[in-house]
Amino acid sequence: MSDAIAPYRTAVVTGATSGIGRAIVFALRKRGLGVYAVGRNQDQLSELADLCGALPVRADVRETGTIAAALAGVDIDILINNAGILSSRATFFEIDPAEIDAMIDVNLKAPMHLTRALLPGMVSRKRGHLIYIGSSGGQAPYPAMAAYGPSKAGLSLFCDNLRCDLLGTSVRVSEIVPGRVQTGLYRTSIPNNQAQAVLYDGYRPIQPEQIATIVTSVIDLPSFVDVSRVEVFPTDQAAGGGTMVKHVP
Ligand SMILES: NC(=O)c1ccc[n+]([C@@H]2O[C@H](COP(=O)([O-])OP(=O)(O)OC[C@H]3O[C@@H](n4cnc5c(N)ncnc54)[C@H](OP(=O)(O)O)[C@@H]3O)[C@@H](O)[C@H]2O)c1
Repeated sequence: MSDAIAPYRTAVVTGATSGIGRAIVFALRKRGLGVYAVGRNQDQLSELADLCGALPVRADVRETGTIAAALAGVDIDILINNAGILSSRATFFEIDPAEIDAMIDVNLKAPMHLTRALLPGMVSRKRGHLIYIGSSGGQAPYPAMAAYGPSKAGLSLFCDNLRCDLLGTSVRVSEIVPGRVQTGLYRTSIPNNQAQAVLYDGYRPIQPEQIATIVTSVIDLPSFVDVSRVEVFPTDQAAGGGTMVKHVP
């Protein structure tokens, strides 16, 4: 473990079985931290354990009690709330109402509840770092993101509120806000393996390892420095939906 992160020994990463979360697990293990990898896919969790020694916690991220029970007695220093879904890209007048609940539950409520479960220990030890993977979709409007966007906007404001409540505790709160990263995030909203062709081929998206580099850089700063929010975009992407339509009388 490097001196810079010496106070931190253990981390929890949700959504560890693919994409950004998986890359963060490897990066933290490389720095010598004990990493609890939370996910649903047993094969992927076992592979993580074999490849880098991560400690699997098999649970849906909405099952706060199951995760807290698996971590009972462990002093968690870093909580990385990464699990998230963009399960539908329907317009809001066509979206399946169940998808509204799913995105709010996984992207907003689950991180809030897991934070609530692990935060008292961090506060009492006066040592901890809460990291949230937000989204550019939570900072500006985009077409067909009217459930995902608010879930991430809520997460972003939650981070700011936490900073108010945590003043004087030495617990840091950092939100990482990416634009397009090449992962499996769109596998259900752009079905039939078309996401690669629609979103990634011919573009230069961010890679998950680059988000992991940002996460470790944020952690490595001295504990009196809190990188509160980082926005990171592909150089070829700008924020927001700028679409206009012609008026049809
Ligand atoms: N990719 C992008 O362009 C982008 C941009 C901005 C923000 N983000 C955010 O980055 C985070 C990571 O996403 P990603 O891009 O790496 O996509 P990903 O490859 O789809 O990874 C998402 C991870 O979350 C897990 N997950 C989803 N629902 C879960 C649940 N109910 N319980 C437990 N785990 C669950 C998935 O596990 P399963 O395999 O079991 O579903 C998967 O491991 C998300 O919060 C996403 O909103 C991504």
